[in-house]
Amino acid sequence: MSDVHGYIDQNLPRFRAELFEFLRIPSVSARREYQPEIRRAADWLAGKLRDLGLETSVEETPGHPIVLAEWRGAAKSAPTVLIYGHYDVQPAEPLELWTTPPFEPTVRDGRIYARGSVDDKGQLYLHVKALEAHLRSNHKLPVNVILLAEGEEEVGSEHLMPFVRERVSRLKADAVVISDTTMVAPDVPTIGASLRGLAYFELEVFGPSHDLHSGTYGGGVLNPATALSRIVGSFHDDDWRITIKGFYDDVDPAPDFRARIKELPFDDKKFLGETGSPKLVGERGQSTPERLWLRPTVEVNGMLSGYTGEGSKTVLPAKAMAKVSCRLVPNQDPARIQKVFREHVQRVTPEGVRVDIKVLHGGRPWRARLQGPLYDAAARALERAFGRPPVYAGEGGSIPIVPEFEETLGAPVLLMGFGLPGENAHAPDEWMSVECFEKGTHAAAAVLAELAG
Ligand code: BES
Ligand code: ZN
Repeated sequence: MSDVHGYIDQNLPRFRAELFEFLRIPSVSARREYQPEIRRAADWLAGKLRDLGLETSVEETPGHPIVLAEWRGAAKSAPTVLIYGHYDVQPAEPLELWTTPPFEPTVRDGRIYARGSVDDKGQLYLHVKALEAHLRSNHKLPVNVILLAEGEEEVGSEHLMPFVRERVSRLKADAVVISDTTMVAPDVPTIGASLRGLAYFELEVFGPSHDLHSGTYGGGVLNPATALSRIVGSFHDDDWRITIKGFYDDVDPAPDFRARIKELPFDDKKFLGETGSPKLVGERGQSTPERLWLRPTVEVNGMLSGYTGEGSKTVLPAKAMAKVSCRLVPNQDPARIQKVFREHVQRVTPEGVRVDIKVLHGGRPWRARLQGPLYDAAARALERAFGRPPVYAGEGGSIPIVPEFEETLGAPVLLMGFGLPGENAHAPDEWMSVECFEKGTHAAAAVLAELAG
């Protein structure tokens, strides 16, 4: 075992150089024009896994390809571990807000700046390097390994769901390990205890058949931008509670999880600092971590209408559009939320406009059981890498495939994340700490050994 960790320490500069190659590929899943880059990223990753001797294929889907690699040479009694991650990234725009270009990785102050550095290429690639460390120092892995990397996580994992369901026997594993979450603070290894689900909508409000002079027609017909603002403004009451009828019906009050959260040191001031907002605001009567991990939200992700160029233009726009998403918590069901959301929007839409509601994607919320050999192994591995045992924290984000893994494969899922607060995931100047990449590689190698023992 010490060989494995020695090997990692000796090869860290090369690991980082390889990660930089991966990061230079702009594998943006949301935009059609990046399709060749998505494929290039999948092929690049598959090449690295093949070089290590894993049985590797790039599997086609109706969307972006899935990289699947297997190594099944472990002792009969050894478990099978499925490592999951994603090689797609969020769009990098607005480009002008990046200090250095998003697809030219740069190290500053011990941080690797690049789109996808922490979400999720760095956190995925450290597992590949952990496999390399075992294979090159011992010619084998301590456990059987399936590595599954998708290219659609950032757009809802639509094609991964059927892919997993159709290959249950091939993907059968005793444990699933994922690094795509964050630590609560530097040097505090963290196991993710929950994920929120998601229900994503696009609203379009149509008024007149074409743009109108706002003097000639304003006051005579309803402005779609005004109507949309009303709709969007109707989602919350004055206490920032969601007003959609039936929205909270299935929310699990989760007294145990709430008690656990109370024990975690959560620094409101530091969290406010990360946001740059004037004040922390949210549902009245709930602490910040409760609002992030235990409570659902409705969030406007984007709005578009009328004239937004320089100077003024007196126009009454023909339509208005908003992207709106709800973060869900156990036991809310995305399909049920889609239904009550639709009913609410129809109820509050004023006369004089027509509204069109499109469902873009959804994902179920998840809570970890946090018990059993997988969690014991993870605690030992993280302590080995970071010098202290892990804490357990909720996560506000979503990884749609997680509940699916647990249900269809019947395997417990471990979220062993190496991001840090303020990492700017999905935003300009995304970064991953060099130290977390390195310690994460050690932890990823150690967890396989721990799971074998
Ligand atoms: N790495 C994130 C998930 C995440 C975010 C975990 C924050 C913990 C904290 C993942 O890549 C992601 O961004 N997922 C999307 C999923 C969505 C598009 C279905 C998300 O949460 O917005
Ligand atoms: Zn992401």
